Amino acid sequence: SFEVLLASSGKVVPVAAHQSIVQALATQGVEIEVSCEQGVCGTCVTRVLDGVPDHRDSYFTDAEKRANDQCTPCCSRALSARLVLDL
Ligand code: FES
Repeated sequence: SFEVLLASSGKVVPVAAHQSIVQALATQGVEIEVSCEQGVCGTCVTRVLDGVPDHRDSYFTDAEKRANDQCTPCCSRALSARLVLDL
């Protein structure tokens, strides 16, 4: 598991192994718009300010994934203990 820090509010949200980032944020009343929920459509794309995403989508190119400055929170996770999202 890992945690997400929301940059605008400073809120820290733990993401359990059985949850997506979107699901974990929803439990705290933070809604991210989704469509496919499988990393295909890009609807949920969110900017990453710090931390290393574990990209599990097929939406970004390899170069975009390596930049580590955005992620698809419907399906992607984190390689670092914390991800700071521009939310
Ligand atoms: Fe489609 Fe996340 S909802 S990529």
